[in-house]
Amino acid sequence: MKHFFLLIVTCLFFSSLSHAATKPMTGDAIYNKYCSVCHTMNPPPKLAPPLRSIAAMYRGKYSSKKEGVERIAAFVKLPNIKNALAPGAVKKYGLMSRLPISSNDIRTIAEWVWDH
Ligand code: HEC
Repeated sequence: MKHFFLLIVTCLFFSSLSHAATKPMTGDAIYNKYCSVCHTMNPPPKLAPPLRSIAAMYRGKYSSKKEGVERIAAFVKLPNIKNALAPGAVKKYGLMSRLPISSNDIRTIAEWVWDH
């Protein structure tokens, strides 16, 4: 009985740990952690085009937010010349690298970019 109790406590402890690790991040936090190394929001650019110009480009190309966010998310998930809206930027800066970022965070940041 005592061991059973210990087992439950241990399980609760680890499930709270794993919950903390997957706690959703805000768009700002994701930008600061993963994107701001290369992207500024506004000109002048660092190692990549400013995200506000990218957002404007996506809003110009897709009229529905849903589709635009999906395209941004698809690019961040797997940067690729074929799904880049600005192949010229790929030539100028080189292709963006893949990031160690979860699908949930990609969703959040894609929406955040669209909204800027
Ligand atoms: C290691 C540098 C680097 C990091 C980190 C980075 N990017 Fe990029 N990103 C680039 C470069 C370089 C380009 C331009 C070339 C290209 O499109 O691949 C780019 C282009 C883009 C584009 C436009 C693609 C198109 O359609 O033309 C989007 C959207 C984008 N980044 C989103 C993000 C987001 C969101 C993050 C953070 C989660 C991020 N990037 C992190 C370097 C980076």
